[in-house]
Amino acid sequence: MKIAITGKGGVGKTFISSTLARLFEKNGYKVIAVDADPDMNLACALGIDEEITPLSKMDDLIEERTGAKVGEYGSVFKINPKVDDIVENYSYRAGNGNIHLLVMGTIEQGGGGCVCPASVLLRRLLRHLILKRNEVVIMDMEAGIEHLGRKTTENVDLMIVVIEPSKKSLLTAKRIKKLANDINISNLYAVVNKIKNDEEKETFGKIFEKEVNIPIIGYIPYSDEVSSSDLLGKPIDLNSDVGKEVERLFNEIINIKPEYYPQLFTIIIGVFWIWFMLAWFPKDFENLDLRASDCKDLDGGKDYYVKGVVDSDDEILEYIIKKA
Ligand SMILES: Nc1ncnc2c1ncn2[C@@H]1O[C@H](COP(=O)(O)OP(=O)(O)OP(=O)(O)O)[C@@H](O)[C@H]1O
Ligand SMILES: [Mg+2]
Repeated sequence: MKIAITGKGGVGKTFISSTLARLFEKNGYKVIAVDADPDMNLACALGIDEEITPLSKMDDLIEERTGAKVGEYGSVFKINPKVDDIVENYSYRAGNGNIHLLVMGTIEQGGGGCVCPASVLLRRLLRHLILKRNEVVIMDMEAGIEHLGRKTTENVDLMIVVIEPSKKSLLTAKRIKKLANDINISNLYAVVNKIKNDEEKETFGKIFEKEVNIPIIGYIPYSDEVSSSDLLGKPIDLNSDVGKEVERLFNEIINIKPEYYPQLFTIIIGVFWIWFMLAWFPKDFENLDLRASDCKDLDGGKDYYVKGVVDSDDEILEYIIKKA
């Protein structure tokens, strides 16, 4: 499952991304957590205290893979750099070792737009993660989703917009909804974070439903556990009250049927049909005209003939009797 987590600054994207990554791991999944936010604090939320070098700053890697010197805009470089070993060789391990963290970093825009070696490498990597990997991929994103590109985002199974009960985050959610529609993301859900009480949950839920109308799959309460863990730079306790609420969200997520299920169903039926045709259908489609008198069971005699379809063993599968 490939999940992108987006929303306005400070709403709790990193908290939710890191906690979901840990919950997927706890439930036996292998996870690739991607920090795609230039702010880069997913490592800290996952409890990694090593110094982090983002991929965008690994000049040697970028040069080796793209064949271009970093910073040399306009130089010729490979547009299909090798990326399939990057998870194994350039990620940080988190959780109990089954979370691989990839930190993308910031790409300085060069010249006319972002066609620089680093951006080519990172886009290619994201595409690889979404299209080719079997692990659960959780992407902690910045608010915009435009930079991902249509082909990549079309293949995200689930996009979660984190919102907090405020007018501003309502507006961001509206904008994201429009963007998601533009690039064909259909599995778009909202999570309302930092809910202070039931009244707020109900009032905001209603406003959100009326004004934005993205299905809400979870409400996470405001909790001191989150802010104090943040202060200490360690992940929250998954057994705490807020941890249990994120677990409830996790359960909702794994019960969402990805959009590709109907397609998968069609493919299975198609494969079954082809197999059926090859294995069972008459191998010899020749239409044979047989004299009715050749068929002892039929008493049509000379005036009738049988038009039949036979299989390779000459067994008549279908026939009609016609007057000659
Ligand atoms: N449910 C919550 N209860 C209390 N505090 C929370 C909760 N969720 C997040 N926070 C706090 O809100 C702040 C922002 O959270 P977080 O860094 O996860 O947001 P973000 O959307 O990733 O922000 P940014 O856009 O800066 O990357 C942090 O101080 C965090 O501790
Ligand atoms: Mg963040």
